Amino acid sequence: MSEVVKIFELERIFADLVVLWWDTKLCHWNIDGHQFPALHPLFESQYNALDDLADELAEHIRALGLKVPGRLSEYQKLADLVEADPNGSADEMVYALKRDYDQIRQDIETILSKNSSSQAVVTIDLLTRICTFAMHTSWMLGSSLPPQ
Ligand SMILES: [Fe+2]
Repeated sequence: MSEVVKIFELERIFADLVVLWWDTKLCHWNIDGHQFPALHPLFESQYNALDDLADELAEHIRALGLKVPGRLSEYQKLADLVEADPNGSADEMVYALKRDYDQIRQDIETILSKNSSSQAVVTIDLLTRICTFAMHTSWMLGSSLPPQ
């Protein structure tokens, strides 16, 4: 494998996207309260975007000649993220999802900082787009939280 980005790092980011995708779906389904009309569709747009990015990353892992981790039990072991509480308040859900996007962004920034001169152009481009989405979505979620 000529890629400089280590496959276990890609698998971890992939597992984090899958965990965050599922957590966002749970928040979409379980949200209650006056923020429901705004957050229910917002969460839907976010899990759809996560699905697209996870699909792209999975197919990139396959293009590198490797298999995609496929069992739910594997995702829990591979992922770094802590699951959101599907019974939490709307603000707790938003806070937990924002925390997860911030963590994914920081993880990718660490990977990219170690690989700035690598030949892994496609991998770096894909990770940069996931990082951009995580940063943008964290800002959106943070903007719907009360001032601290
Ligand atoms: Fe729905």
